[in-house]
Amino acid sequence: MTYSVAHPRLELEHRETMSGRARVRIFDTTLRDGEQAPGFSMTPAEKVRLAEHLERLGADIIEAGFPVSSDGDFEAVRAVAATVKSAVVAGLARAVTGDIDRAWAALQGARRPRIHVFLATSDLHLEHKLRIDRATCLARTREAVAHARSLTPDVEFSAEDATRSDLAFLCDVAATAVEAGATTVNLPDTVGYALPADITRMFTAVRDRVGDGVTLSAHCHNDLGLAVANSIAAVQAGARQVECTINGIGERAGNAALEEFVMALNVRREALPYDTGITTTRLVPTSQALSSIVGVNVAPNKAVVGANAFAHESGIHQDGMLKNELTYEIMRPESVGAAGTRLVLGKHSGMRGLDARCRALGHRLGEVDLERVYRRVTALADRSKTVNDEQLAAIIREEAGGATPATARRTAPAKGREAACR
Ligand code: KIV
Ligand code: ZN
Repeated sequence: MTYSVAHPRLELEHRETMSGRARVRIFDTTLRDGEQAPGFSMTPAEKVRLAEHLERLGADIIEAGFPVSSDGDFEAVRAVAATVKSAVVAGLARAVTGDIDRAWAALQGARRPRIHVFLATSDLHLEHKLRIDRATCLARTREAVAHARSLTPDVEFSAEDATRSDLAFLCDVAATAVEAGATTVNLPDTVGYALPADITRMFTAVRDRVGDGVTLSAHCHNDLGLAVANSIAAVQAGARQVECTINGIGERAGNAALEEFVMALNVRREALPYDTGITTTRLVPTSQALSSIVGVNVAPNKAVVGANAFAHESGIHQDGMLKNELTYEIMRPESVGAAGTRLVLGKHSGMRGLDARCRALGHRLGEVDLERVYRRVTALADRSKTVNDEQLAAIIREEAGGATPATARRTAPAKGREAACR
């Protein structure tokens, strides 16, 4: 099925995939909303490096920055626009002419530029932040979008704080933006306040008002840890673009994590008939590239890309994993570009895990009493959290009466790291 849309290039992207599954476009805002988080700012060269990763990953739209915010960010958007080959490059602008012109100037080198205009729509923001009334908000929306549209056919309008806006007024703003030429209307949960049911209600109402000729977009913040769940609810209610960031970075608690949203669609494909253009095997490499560029590590328990996402320490889990990986893993580590499953030796580990680990490292277990090794391993783990390969080798050497462990059958893991057991 093809929806009629104002811009022919977008028409192509609205088509459902051959399988009848709808295509959801990924709008990556790591370089804009992501870098707005304290400690995550990037130089133009760093943004270019990450943009190359994002394009390889398969992001449909890369929001490169907010050009009016600083000369450095203007330069960064310009450099990203000149580098990116096939993705749309977006620049953010408030709903004022000067911002829009600055964004457009920064996007000149982009093969596929997009101006992204935003204006708050909640009474709270209108009265206390912008000090304007609803009529002025409508007029500014119309003028700003029309101005952007006079520069480029690809214009996105965002209703900041949409989820705390009066729904009837939000529908009026969205309809005004579409009439003025917006090809995408984004409904952000700017402060991460909404529940999935609120998101369903909001997207359903706006979609009923503006129809299918415009792309609706979700932009959910994670203040209550609901950003990905809310993004999924938005897609189920008709959104065909999701704004997200690598590692979920962004203002305060961050944005919806790209890797989590994409893998939710992937792992639960029977329940979620939507496809993205993301190459999932690039998820971990892209996450690691961001970490090294900004110098901030990912939490070990971070879904999909954290160091523990495919690590198992407890004896029961290790036993299950050794019998059938499906017992405790819902996706394969290789599918997201992770090195592999790790069975980590710690105080919760059991004999089966120890045995597998020793074998993976190539130790001749006939020479030692595995029970004794196990007791020493758990005693050490009680003191030092986990037991790495060097420590395990030392225990086995001592138990074997000083003999050197046999050469590992597989490539030895890096010093201090646990063995990959698959
Ligand atoms: O969270 C938000 O409302 C935003 C807009 C500028 C899109 O980041
Ligand atoms: Zn945001």
